[in-house]
Amino acid sequence: MPPKPTSRLQGMYKLSPAERLAWVSRAAQMDKVESEALRGDRGLSLDQADHMVENVVGIFGLPLGIAVNFLVNGREVLVPMAIEEPSVVAGASFMAKLARDGGGFLAETTEPEMIAQMQILDVPDIAEAQQALIEAKPEVLAQANLVDPLITELGGGARDLEVRLLEETPAGPMLVVHLIFDTRDAMGANTLNTAAERLSPMLEAITRGRVHLRILSNLADRRLAKATCRIPSESLAFGKFSGELVGKGIVEAWALAAADPYRAATHNKGIMNGVDSVLIATGNDWRAVEAGAHAYASRSGRYTSLSRWRTGEGGSLEGTLEMPMAVGIVGGATQVHPTAKACVTLMGVQTGRELAEVIVSVGLAQNLAALRALGTEGIQRGHMRLHARQVAIAAGAEGAVIERLARVMVEEGTVRMDRAKQLMAELNKSN
Ligand code: MEV
Repeated sequence: MPPKPTSRLQGMYKLSPAERLAWVSRAAQMDKVESEALRGDRGLSLDQADHMVENVVGIFGLPLGIAVNFLVNGREVLVPMAIEEPSVVAGASFMAKLARDGGGFLAETTEPEMIAQMQILDVPDIAEAQQALIEAKPEVLAQANLVDPLITELGGGARDLEVRLLEETPAGPMLVVHLIFDTRDAMGANTLNTAAERLSPMLEAITRGRVHLRILSNLADRRLAKATCRIPSESLAFGKFSGELVGKGIVEAWALAAADPYRAATHNKGIMNGVDSVLIATGNDWRAVEAGAHAYASRSGRYTSLSRWRTGEGGSLEGTLEMPMAVGIVGGATQVHPTAKACVTLMGVQTGRELAEVIVSVGLAQNLAALRALGTEGIQRGHMRLHARQVAIAAGAEGAVIERLARVMVEEGTVRMDRAKQLMAELNKSN
């Protein structure tokens, strides 16, 4: 019988990259080609890159780490994260371990509905145009459905038409028509933008106005992903901190982000550390999700935290994260980039919605990692350990020497390039 899939691997950090890749490939039952695609040197080719963007001269690398311990809706998930910042992969893995004690992450998504905007100017009679648009809705939606017959066949397609009047803008009053379109497993930007452009002549005829902008909205507030988790109080305890104290510290730290935009920006940046790194690993448009996240965080008129934390039953800690999540597993770089494809396979997600559910769980885990550290001993202790490794590498350390130099610098409290170089020189001399 094949082993039960698991995302748990204790001491992963002690293995070499090759050993980790072997374990991950086995756990996710990946074939050789998929597994090698996870290694940067067998990923995107120069030729493929040359077809993706303009003026290509090379390929830019980022570390690809695997976050372990994730249980999302009862399913074990290995999470690929492409990121240059230390502590992020370790933080997500560790918080996922704590969340397991409370049953893991529970996540859900709305239907994958995107919005395309069409701006209509110079409308001679706004009230008449609004009425005409409402009456013409069935024909407009039918026309939009012709844009991508495959999506319609798969159960997606045009869902609704909303007409908004913006009375006071620097360009005077204007109508804005929203086409609501279900893009299924695609992010859907191309479909939405094509639909907006195709519908324009029809909208001009209906409103007798002039259609100007035709583009999707990144405030994808009809395509939301939400994750919750519950950490038992005893799982929060560490060192000299009781579970109760850690939980209280986290809720107090969140309160500042809830009340203050200066803190909320940093708090949400921590969430996006997790979200973006999975978006990048899976070839998704992380700028689109970033834009949507911050616009959604301001939806009340005041920029605030995307997550919520509170003390629950028996002193447990309960967290929720809800945010727009316009991601896909078909189309775009998700299918062209071999490493992105392999990352989707590694996660075992079958739909765009499942991918969104994992990503929002990672965002919540990342937020917890930051708040747990900030609300107790501060982030610099853990951060410095990893930063010291980077400084050691930059000073020329290799293999076991990296750890050795890093340890000395952390113990001394001198994580600096000049000290790393000095230590290297001393080492070279004694050899
Ligand atoms: C650093 O990349 C992210 C944090 O600043 C997030 C936070 O402050 O919540 C640690």
